[in-house]
Amino acid sequence: MNFELTEEHLAVQAAAREFAQTELLPGVIERDEHQKFPTEQIKKMGELGFLGMMVDPKYGGGGMDTISYVLAMEEISKVDASASVVMSVNNSLVCWGIEKYGTEEQKQKYLPRLATGEIIGAFCLSEPEAGSDATSQRTTAEDKGDYYLLNGTKNWITNGSTASVYLVIAQTYPEKGHRGINALIVERGMEGFVVGPKENKLGIRGSDTHSLMFSDVKVPKENRIGEDGFGFKFAMQTLAGGRIGIASQALGIASGALELALKYSKERKAFGVEIAKHQAIQFKLADMATNIEAARLLCLQAAYDKDSHRDYGMSGAMAKLFASKVAMETTVEAVQIHGGYGFVKEYHVERLMRDAKITQIYEGTSEIQKIVISRELLK
Ligand code: CAA
Repeated sequence: MNFELTEEHLAVQAAAREFAQTELLPGVIERDEHQKFPTEQIKKMGELGFLGMMVDPKYGGGGMDTISYVLAMEEISKVDASASVVMSVNNSLVCWGIEKYGTEEQKQKYLPRLATGEIIGAFCLSEPEAGSDATSQRTTAEDKGDYYLLNGTKNWITNGSTASVYLVIAQTYPEKGHRGINALIVERGMEGFVVGPKENKLGIRGSDTHSLMFSDVKVPKENRIGEDGFGFKFAMQTLAGGRIGIASQALGIASGALELALKYSKERKAFGVEIAKHQAIQFKLADMATNIEAARLLCLQAAYDKDSHRDYGMSGAMAKLFASKVAMETTVEAVQIHGGYGFVKEYHVERLMRDAKITQIYEGTSEIQKIVISRELLK
């Protein structure tokens, strides 16, 4: 068993860390406060290759493995989870979904621009009444011969108003249940497609979350991904990889909080010594670090499974379940270590605590991860 990262992995990790510290850290508090999308920063991330890391270089991507992606996601998420969710959705859901299941024409048309960040993508599965219960799609894609007529509403869509390409899951044959669902590529600007109001969120406030409305949108047949009726499996397969990205985001939020807590506990004095000299603080730091290391190993295991073409549904779900719990617990402890300073924005940990919560909700709640894991165990 080899736990060593390669030279290439270490270089990607260092580049992501450098980018996060120099480009994302300045302004992250302000973007969170004012719900400001990191437009310039995302553009630079695209130029540096962080938005299409695993895409084949022939389509403009970095051709890297999933381990590199996990390492970069951790570093970016330590500083700005609003930027890393854009990175995660673009890489694991949109680029991967098109590259794995799209036609050659679709790949050539969309991937080069998505992989370089010239445009970004969104993944549209959730609906007002179909969150965890994703088979209950109400959005319809009626077959009209050479196009689908798309009608319905999607909720909680990351990159809702900033994306140019949307992968929309919709029901074509209601009588066939999940086997009657299709995945369509919808472009911004198609007639009848309206972006709803922006959500005012607890965390990842710099990211752009909207509802979307489709009213008689004509989507050409050539925009369907995969066979007729493949849409639900497409969504499940895509989300299985997406969960590795969100697990790494959670890992980054947790390790960012630990770094801040370590720094603060060596600076802050109480009862005549640095608070790091008190066992009450040392025990917290030790627990935080141990949990983070376990979360990191689960993320890397899931990435390794994916890179080795092994099944990664269960390992990805385990990584997400555990890392998101660790993110929540670690950030709460980091705020506690900071005391009153942890409760104000300048010290960053309160933002990390708010950002951590979404990792237990999106791309499948923790309860959904447990369903995925237990089904695999009981097979
Ligand atoms: N790969 C391929 N196929 C899969 C699959 C997978 N990983 N998981 C399930 N399927 C297939 C099943 O084999 C089954 O097909 P057959 O009947 O042909 O065998 C079909 O899909 C239906 O599966 P289930 O019977 O297991 O479906 P279910 O209704 O019991 O639900 C679920 C399964 C795991 C609960 C699923 O609905 C689920 O994952 N829900 C959560 C949805 C989710 O994660 N939403 C996140 C929104 S996206 C987002 O958050 C992005 C963002 O913006 C950040």
